[in-house]
Amino acid sequence: MRAAIFRENGGPEVITVEDVDPPLPGPGEVRIRVEAASMNHLDLWVRRGLPIETPMPHIGGSDIVGSVESVGSEDLTSWMGRRVVVDPSLSYDWYELAGRKGGFASSFGVIGEHTQGGFAEMVVVPGANLLEVPETVASEAAAAGALAGVTAWRGLMVRGRLRSGESVLITGASGGVSTMAIQYARLAGATVHAVTSTPEGVARARSLGADYAYDRLADDWPKAVYRNTERRGVQLCLDSVGQAVWPQAVRALAVGGRLVSYGATTGPEATLDLRLLFWRQLSVLGSTMGTHREFIEAMSLIFAGRVEPQIDRVLSLEDTREAHELLETGSVFGKIVIKP
Ligand SMILES: NC(=O)c1ccc[n+]([C@@H]2O[C@H](COP(=O)([O-])OP(=O)(O)OC[C@H]3O[C@@H](n4cnc5c(N)ncnc54)[C@H](OP(=O)(O)O)[C@@H]3O)[C@@H](O)[C@H]2O)c1
Repeated sequence: MRAAIFRENGGPEVITVEDVDPPLPGPGEVRIRVEAASMNHLDLWVRRGLPIETPMPHIGGSDIVGSVESVGSEDLTSWMGRRVVVDPSLSYDWYELAGRKGGFASSFGVIGEHTQGGFAEMVVVPGANLLEVPETVASEAAAAGALAGVTAWRGLMVRGRLRSGESVLITGASGGVSTMAIQYARLAGATVHAVTSTPEGVARARSLGADYAYDRLADDWPKAVYRNTERRGVQLCLDSVGQAVWPQAVRALAVGGRLVSYGATTGPEATLDLRLLFWRQLSVLGSTMGTHREFIEAMSLIFAGRVEPQIDRVLSLEDTREAHELLETGSVFGKIVIKP
């Protein structure tokens, strides 16, 4: 089968598209003939290799849609021939349960990071991770919405406890997760403030449903947020930009505000003014992907047509290196989908 593969960490140039042996499903696993797989920022971290260690040689790709073409055990035969989207989390529910009980489960992993992924003609995944895609939903859309959707959903609704009537600030608004978050937040009845990096990003964030959108390179956006919230600030901020926006994002929070962090695109060493933390009685929360139930909740809204994953472009498997280059430059609105 053809696969986009790398044997060492580095820049996009380490990726080559080659013929490799197709993987075989073991007990509890299925083999999928891939129809669409979407890029995540995670694919860049995995390729760069810091601080992530992946099995080498490696095939990336955590967001996978395709048809089940063989199964590794009889209990999975009912999946044969069905078109599915794959929940990208491995052992998430154990990890989440351990977290709630105050422990730590180290078994959590991500398909395409800790295992071989979907930038290939075929991929093997656990049967427990499958969700059937309705006929009305395109494979590209389901692949674009999976990891980004569950991450946005848990960050906003579960960790962030977003309620109707609240205001929410979403940073890095043109990102894969953020473009989903804007839509989920609107559906939840929130007033959405989106921060992005270009005038085009501002227009597109607004067309997705953001009530207010700011160009962080042109506007004094913290001041504008303050003004547009009647000098209260936002109740919730969902952030993955990290270091470059944290001081302003914290300052944009209202008294009692929550900041949910799920990423650190611009660096992990963010500063936090402790005086703001205690005086405004703020909460800082971490969030990562989601449970299988949350994955189904996030996907259901896509399946129902109430949320539309934003696809910047569709590229062929042969162009996987270009997909990495494009996502790295930040010139993508939403997702790049790769088709074998
Ligand atoms: N914890 C988890 O479970 C989880 C899940 C998914 C993603 N993540 C992390 O969350 C981040 C976003 O993921 P994604 O897949 O949505 O990424 P993405 O599609 O590449 O989007 C990242 C966005 O961040 C903004 N950005 C990039 N560089 C920036 C810079 N130097 N300064 C300010 N903003 C910048 C850009 O938006 P604008 O142009 O609009 O500013 C860009 O579109 C990544 O770091 C990823 O690893 C974590």
